[in-house]
Amino acid sequence: MNAPEKFVAQAAARPATGQPRIHESARAHVAGAATYVDDIPEVKGTLHAAPILSKLARGRLLAVDATLALEMEGVQDVILARDIPGDPFLSTFVHDEPVLALDTVEFVGQVIGVVVAETVMQARRAARQVQVDIEPLPAILDVREAVRQQSFVLPPVTVRRGEPEQGIARAPHRLAGALDVGGQEHFYLEGQVGYALPLEQGQWWIHSSTQHPAEVQHWVAHALGVPANAVRVDCRRMGGGFGGKETQAGHVAVWAALAAHKTGRPVKMRLDRDDDFLVTGKRHPFAYDYEVGFDDAGRILGLKLMLAANCGWSADLSGPVADRAVFHVDNAYFLGDVEIVSYRCKTNVQSHTAFRGFGGPQGMIVTEALLGEIARVLGMDPLDVRKANLYGIEDRNVTHYQMPVEDNILAPLIARLEHDADYRHRRAAIAQWNAASPVIKRGLALTPVKFGISFTATFFNQAGALVHVYTDGSVQVNHGGTEMGQGLHTKVCQLVADELGVPFERVRISSTDTGKVPNASATAASSGTDLNGRAAQFAARQIRQRLAEYVAGKQNCRPEQVLFAHGQVSGPDAVMGWEQLVDDAWHARVQLWSDGFYRTPKIHYDRHTLTGRPFYYFAYGAACTEVAIDTLTGENRVLKVDILHDVGHSINPAIDIGQIEGGFVQGMGWLTTEQLVWDAKGQLATHAPSTYKIPATGDVPAHLRIALWPEPNREDNVGGSKAVGEPPFMLAISVWEALRDAVAAANGQPRVALDAPATAENVLKALRG
Ligand code: MTE
Ligand code: HPA
Ligand code: MOS
Repeated sequence: MNAPEKFVAQAAARPATGQPRIHESARAHVAGAATYVDDIPEVKGTLHAAPILSKLARGRLLAVDATLALEMEGVQDVILARDIPGDPFLSTFVHDEPVLALDTVEFVGQVIGVVVAETVMQARRAARQVQVDIEPLPAILDVREAVRQQSFVLPPVTVRRGEPEQGIARAPHRLAGALDVGGQEHFYLEGQVGYALPLEQGQWWIHSSTQHPAEVQHWVAHALGVPANAVRVDCRRMGGGFGGKETQAGHVAVWAALAAHKTGRPVKMRLDRDDDFLVTGKRHPFAYDYEVGFDDAGRILGLKLMLAANCGWSADLSGPVADRAVFHVDNAYFLGDVEIVSYRCKTNVQSHTAFRGFGGPQGMIVTEALLGEIARVLGMDPLDVRKANLYGIEDRNVTHYQMPVEDNILAPLIARLEHDADYRHRRAAIAQWNAASPVIKRGLALTPVKFGISFTATFFNQAGALVHVYTDGSVQVNHGGTEMGQGLHTKVCQLVADELGVPFERVRISSTDTGKVPNASATAASSGTDLNGRAAQFAARQIRQRLAEYVAGKQNCRPEQVLFAHGQVSGPDAVMGWEQLVDDAWHARVQLWSDGFYRTPKIHYDRHTLTGRPFYYFAYGAACTEVAIDTLTGENRVLKVDILHDVGHSINPAIDIGQIEGGFVQGMGWLTTEQLVWDAKGQLATHAPSTYKIPATGDVPAHLRIALWPEPNREDNVGGSKAVGEPPFMLAISVWEALRDAVAAANGQPRVALDAPATAENVLKALRG
């Protein structure tokens, strides 16, 4: 037996939940045996689509001439807005996005139409030969310019508590300033792809790499002008989503479906990497202005903050993203007297969208920057200033949106990390190093995370599942959640296995399918397991209950006396194997399948004032990061990272630690090397891996030590666990704060003019003042 087999065999003897199970597709992933949409064998007659892109940031669309393209080899057709049988606008909440450009274009990369051909390369070559006549109009490319011109996709929102002006005026110390934080490309390994198959009698089957099959179904039905029951969408897995396939997958699926509708043939659309960069939205870049007053201990006495989210040309998810940013400005800290003004700016670039953290990182980072500055101005250790501002337990424990923080574990969590990472000694050692080292300077930061779990749009916090027990005792689960590498399916199988008392290997999930579980929410907001895991658990519980009643009837006992564990079912009189029981029960006509439904309790909030309890609970963590910068070149390196993170009672520690590692490194990329550059004409200049640098394996710090906080979730969440998908991303703010610490040490000045990302150029600029 090779090592992994042995590991699986050992674990199988124990209950599934809480075990470090390998991902249900791990072997298939590494063996190349896992199917992605582009791997599905193509149906005979399949055509391929490529997009026709706008080359101008804004203008009037006067004419599209496809004559040349249509004459090219293999080209079958060109699809424009006039070919849409249903609504020419996508069925988004704000209804502001045409499926294909109508009479205007609003960014470089906007899709004007699609070319369909026999092969992908024929379609892509022909798309470049379509002549597009656009009369230029002035564009807004800068988010601060958008604020000046009041160019918004949604109205501004203000959240205010107390008297921040008085707090600032009375404070012994004050700071004011501005900050800019860049966006981020998702860079999922599998690009956006959709495959639309027309079936008989006006029915459709769509394979989509999507976090939200139900929304793809809804959008396709709307664009085709057919009811939702005519469209089935499935997704076995994504090669990464990171929020970039929450809405953006829908566009590609709709374009493929429209082309299939017009040609009457199956159509696959797979964007190449450059087009994916140019067409789809990214993390929202943010600009900030702040004014803060504080006391001698560094405690914030008043804060006025302006957040301008660069939303791009349409609303997409920008409303909930900007809301989540407002909800996370406090991060872990009590802001008594505060005013936050949130602008949702319209600019002529891609429509920015969900990305791991969903506005949370953009909310937190400004406050972390402020606390670092406050500490340096006062000559204090930044960790002491952070501690002085933490939420209290009995008092100072209500957020600026009026939600009491009831599950705060940060004081003991930070204390433990401070000890385990040897923070104080290292602080002293780094000061000595910096005093002796003229060129290389080091920096250190320990920053916490408090992240609210639940969709900010309350109604999304619901999920359904179906559990089928077949007559041979094998179990199939379906639920509304999607697999993007995060291990959701593995965790749901673990939960169902334990609920039925069967070995993990008896339970399988095939693909997510709108024909099995309808109206599912996006797999997002880190709540995939919280929602779908519970729904699947409830479905399995009903089957177990029915089986227990059946056994109770036979053995003359109460159903509660029937126990299910290790593939065995035992009552007071007899023990039998799971398979035997299932077969008997089927012959006795007991229903062996069930549905389950879950909605998150306790949550509510007012969309207009942003007050209430938007989150069921908070996930916590902290990271201590040490960095080095080269003051001659600006180059920098992350040397050492210690993380203590709270996942409650882990359903799968191997997967959770993988999520913490991956989230942290992705966050590090956002704040260091990943820089999006739009040129003066609004063309994204960094649209390939040659110019856009995500972290490589060599960038992962050699010392990356992760520990899990031992307590279960204090709220009644599935298995006592906490969501883990997004919160660790924000631990990477410690990297950026450590870099700012190093710059301050080099400059000998408390104020640091370093925006994000901290590329070598930006670090060098900050060093030169
Ligand atoms: N992990 C992997 N490997 N791939 C991904 O695309 N997406 C992240 C996170 N972890 C992602 C990932 C994002 S943005 C979210 S919201 C969650 O996973 C979604 O899954 P969950 O709710 O099941 O945690
Ligand atoms: N996170 C991710 N996606 C979402 C959310 C959220 O809070 N709200 C609506 N879509
Ligand atoms: Mo994650 S940004 O909520 O898909």
